[in-house]
Amino acid sequence: MQVLVTGGAGYIGSHSVLTLLENDYEVIVYDNLCNSSAESIERVKRLTGKSVDFIEGDIRDKDKLREVFEHHNISVVIHFAALKAVGESTTIPLSYFQSNVHGTVCVLEVMKEFGVNNFIFSSSATVYGEENDVPYDENMKLGTPSSPYGANKVMVERILQDLAISDPQFRAVSLRYFNPIGAHESGEIGEDPSGIPNNLLPYVAQVAVGKRAKLNIFGGDYPTQDGSCERDYLHVMDLAEGHLAALEWLNKNESFRGVEAFNLGTGNGVSVFAIVKAFESATSKAIPFDVAPRRSGDLPAFWANANKANTQLNWQATRSLTQMMKDTWHWQSNNPNGYAK
Ligand code: NAD
Ligand code: UFG
Repeated sequence: MQVLVTGGAGYIGSHSVLTLLENDYEVIVYDNLCNSSAESIERVKRLTGKSVDFIEGDIRDKDKLREVFEHHNISVVIHFAALKAVGESTTIPLSYFQSNVHGTVCVLEVMKEFGVNNFIFSSSATVYGEENDVPYDENMKLGTPSSPYGANKVMVERILQDLAISDPQFRAVSLRYFNPIGAHESGEIGEDPSGIPNNLLPYVAQVAVGKRAKLNIFGGDYPTQDGSCERDYLHVMDLAEGHLAALEWLNKNESFRGVEAFNLGTGNGVSVFAIVKAFESATSKAIPFDVAPRRSGDLPAFWANANKANTQLNWQATRSLTQMMKDTWHWQSNNPNGYAK
C-alpha cells in the first residue's frame, strides 16, 4: 500500500515514516524542507533498511503534486506539512493561512482529481481553545484558539467536515496531538528546530548540551499545583504509532465515511517544573532556570481524555516520561547541531 506523507522529513513525520516502513507500507515523502533536512529521511532509510521515494516540493504546487499522484498508486495521504510556530503565526498570519489552510486545500483538491479518498490530518489540542474544560474529549465543540496557527487547525477540521458532507466517498481522520517530545531510541532522528527553540523540550535539551545558558520558565503563578503550566507530553514514537493505528483503522473500517477525530495524548498533565526535574534525574544534567513572566497565549493546563483512541484505534501511549527525557537527551547529545554537518 502506497502512502503519501506530506511533511515527512519533519519531526513527527520522520518518526511516522519509520514506523510505516517497519510495518511494510510503501512511503512517498513530499516536503519542501522549509523546516527540515533531507538527512532525516536518509537516516530513516538506514535505520529501517527500506527505501523511500523523496520528492522536494511545496504542497501549494498543485502541478508538482499531480506528478506525484500520476507516478504512484497512492491510497492514503498523511498530511503533516504545515508551518507550526505559534508565536511566529501571530507576526506572519497570512503566510500561515497560505501554507496551512490553502496548502491543505491544494492537497485535498489533487486527491479528489485522482480519486484518493483517505486522509489523515495532523491536528492539535489547540483546536479545543479556551472554552472547553480539561480533560479535552472529542465530543467537545471546536473552540477559539488564541493564535492564527490554532485557527488554521480549526479551519482545516471544518473544511474536512464540509468536504465529507459534499463527497460521500471521503474518509478522514483528524489526529489531535497533545505535546509530542522525545526521539527515536536510536538517537539518530529527533527534533531539530531552527534558531531559538519555541517548545519546552528542545530548549531544555539545548541548555543541557551547553548551547543556551538557562531555561526561562514562562509563568510560576498559574492556578496549577506548582504554579507552572501543565501539558500532556507524549513520546513521539507513541505518536508515530498513533498514525499507524489510524491507518489500520481506516483500512479495517471499509464502510466508514466522513471525518473522525481522535486525541493522541497520555491523559496526564505534567508541569514545567516537573519536566525540568524529570529531565535532570533521567540524564544527570543540571538545568539552570529562571521563572520568567507568562508567555502570551498559554493556557494554564490541558491534557487529553484519550479513551476514544484507546478503545477505537486500540492505541495507547506506553512510553514513560523518563523514556521521553532519555531519548530527547540521546538525540541531542549525539547531534548537538541537529542534522547539520
Ligand atoms: P516540522 O516543522 O518538523 O514538520 C513539518 C514539515 O512540513 C517540515 O518538514 C516542513 O519542511 C514541511 N512543510 C512545511 N510547509 C510545507 C509546504 N508548504 N509544503 C511542503 N512541505 C512543507 O513539524 P512537526 O512538529 O513534525 O509537525 C508536523 C505536523 O504536526 C504539523 O502539521 C504541526 O502543525 C502538527 N502538530 C505538531 C505539534 C508539535 O508539538 N510538534 C503539535 C500539534 C500538531
Ligand atoms: N515553556 C517554558 N519555557 C520555554 C518553552 C516553553 O516555560 O522556553 C512552557 C510554555 O510556557 C508551556 C510549556 O512549556 O507552558 C509547553 O510549551 P510548548 O511551547 O512546548 O508547547 P505548547 O503547549 O505551548 O504548544 C503545543 C504545540 C503547539 C500547539 C499547542 C496547543 O507545540 O503546536 O501545544 O495544542 F498548538
